[in-house]
Formats: sequence, C-alpha cells, structure tokens
Amino acid sequence: MKKLIPSYIRVPVLFFLIAGLVEYFVDSGNEPAFIKYPIVLVFLLLVLVVIISIEGIVTALDNILYQSLDEAGKARYIANRTKTPKFIQKIKDLYIKSLGQKPISQESEIILDHNYDGIRELDNSLPPWWKYAFYVSIVFAIVYMLKYEVFNGDSQIDEYETELADAKIAIEEYKKTAKDLVDANTVTLLTDASDLNAGKSIFQTNCVACHMADGGGGIGPNLTDDHWILGGGIKNVFHTISEGGRDGKGMIAWKQSLKPAQIAQVASYVLSLQGTTPAKPKEAEGEIWVEEVAAE
Ligand code: HEC
Repeated sequence: MKKLIPSYIRVPVLFFLIAGLVEYFVDSGNEPAFIKYPIVLVFLLLVLVVIISIEGIVTALDNILYQSLDEAGKARYIANRTKTPKFIQKIKDLYIKSLGQKPISQESEIILDHNYDGIRELDNSLPPWWKYAFYVSIVFAIVYMLKYEVFNGDSQIDEYETELADAKIAIEEYKKTAKDLVDANTVTLLTDASDLNAGKSIFQTNCVACHMADGGGGIGPNLTDDHWILGGGIKNVFHTISEGGRDGKGMIAWKQSLKPAQIAQVASYVLSLQGTTPAKPKEAEGEIWVEEVAAE
C-alpha cells in the first residue's frame, strides 16, 4: 500500500493538531497555554518526540520486513506500494467522467471535417457538470421569477423592513424589562399612578428634609413653581437629581443611591407637583421654564 501522505507532512500536521487541541482546551487567558504553563511546553515536546519515534519505528519495521522477503515477495511489495489506493482511483475516475471527454483512442469519431493548416477541431460535448449546472440554473430562474415577479414575494427591502420592525418591537420589550437603562437623554415623563406613587415614597424618604413634603422648599428650592435654577422638564430634572446641583449648594448627586428607574420615578413625581400650592412656598428662584416643543 502506497503511503498517502509523506512523513514530513504527517508529523507536523499531527503535532500542530495536538498543540491546537491543547491550546483550545487549556484555559490560559490571553497568553498562549505553552507560555503560561511551561509544563504544557514540556508535554508538547514529549508529544513531538513520541510522534517522531513512532514514525522511525514504523519505517524500520517496514524495512526489516522488506529485507526478509524473497525476490517474488519483494516484487509484490513494490507493486503494492506503487498502486494507487482504491478510493483515490474512484475519485479520479469520477473526475474524468465529469469532464465528459472521449478518450484519445476514440477521438476520430468526433473530429470535425474542417482543417485549418493542420489544426482540427474536436466536437466534444459539454462537460456534464457544466450542463447540469446550467439546467439547475434554468429551474432556479423559473422558481425565482414566479416567486418574486408573479407572486410578489418579499423583496430584500421588504425583508429588511420586516426585520427592522421586529427588532424595534424586541427593543421595546427589552426596555420594559430593563427600566434602569434610562438616562437624562432618554427619560420620558412617567404618568402611571404606580410610578408616581413609587416616586412619592422615594421623595418622602430622601428629599423632604430640604424640599419639604409638599415640595414647597426649605434648604432646597421650591419645586412646585415654574421657576427652575437648573432647568425644568423631565430631562433636566432627571439630570439634576442624578448629578446633583451646583457645587456647595447642598443638592447631592443621587445616582449613588438611587437607580436610574427610581430617579425617573421621583423626577416624574417632582414634576407632578407643578402648580400645586404648598403650605409655605419658598420664593421662586431661577428662570421660568418653558417646555420647548420643537426640541422634542
Ligand atoms: C441636603 C438637602 C437636599 C436634599 C436631601 C435634596 N435636595 Fe434637591 N436641592 C437642594 C438644593 C440646595 C438645591 C439647589 C441646587 C442648586 O442651586 O444648584 C436642590 C435642587 C433640586 C432640584 C432642582 C431645582 C431647580 O430649581 O432647578 C431638584 C429637581 C431637586 N433638588 C430634587 C431633589 C430630589 C428629587 C431629592 C430627593 C431624591 C432632593 N432634591 C434632595 C437640596 C437638597
């Protein structure tokens, strides 16, 4: 039996295959495994030595076997060695068949009768692989034509738009489960009673000391009037609560202790106090805030 792959290819391929597997299965972070764990290097070297020795032993055995044969045996051995393995022969036959060529011995049957200065032409038929691929493309064209031109199948743009719409729905779904994704740019005014109640209790726990229970103001400014020092509207209020007021004024950044979703709730609650009349309102500070509709 002829050796399919010479040993100078077999040995490195086998070795790198094993090295690759080791690299894949040994978790070594960003470094290669054999650098992080020197023992791996030792193991790989051992593998290499073993592979080379096996090659050597097999070759030596082969040789001994050959020497021990009589003349007839040697001849048979050589014949076997140089024979192409069956499956390779099959692949070769299949390839020749797929070319659809006539063997040279039969070329006289297909030679055309014109003759240009001794150059003649063979009337070979098309290679079968080419012919069948062509038939397949005809069938494909008909199916394609019917689907997209007759029955108006979805074009690529339609498919893109469907996927986009699906993705938008998925994002909405995701946002519902991940409320804490809001920030000062994406926050919207919450109007659900449950959110406002949650906001109210957050306000009563954290904010009344300076803003009073009714938002009338104390150390902090009046939150019920339409004057704002740091800007009104849900986005500014969210930003103020999250990042705090101006330095040294006493309004801390609440993002340390409140989650974004809670800040959105308390900000919405603060805005729901607009226009209410607190018991002891602090005088207005800051500018009158007019919601910019255009900016929305
Ligand atoms: C330690 C006192 C204190 C506490 C507690 C406090 N604030 Fe303030 N708050 C202030 C002060 C002082 C300012 C003014 C900041 C400035 O002028 O920069 C302010 C400003 C604000 C503003 C901006 C008002 C404007 O006119 O722009 C909002 C909104 C606000 N606070 C909401 C809250 C909320 C909500 C809480 C509870 C989570 C809270 N504050 C807790 C002291 C406080």
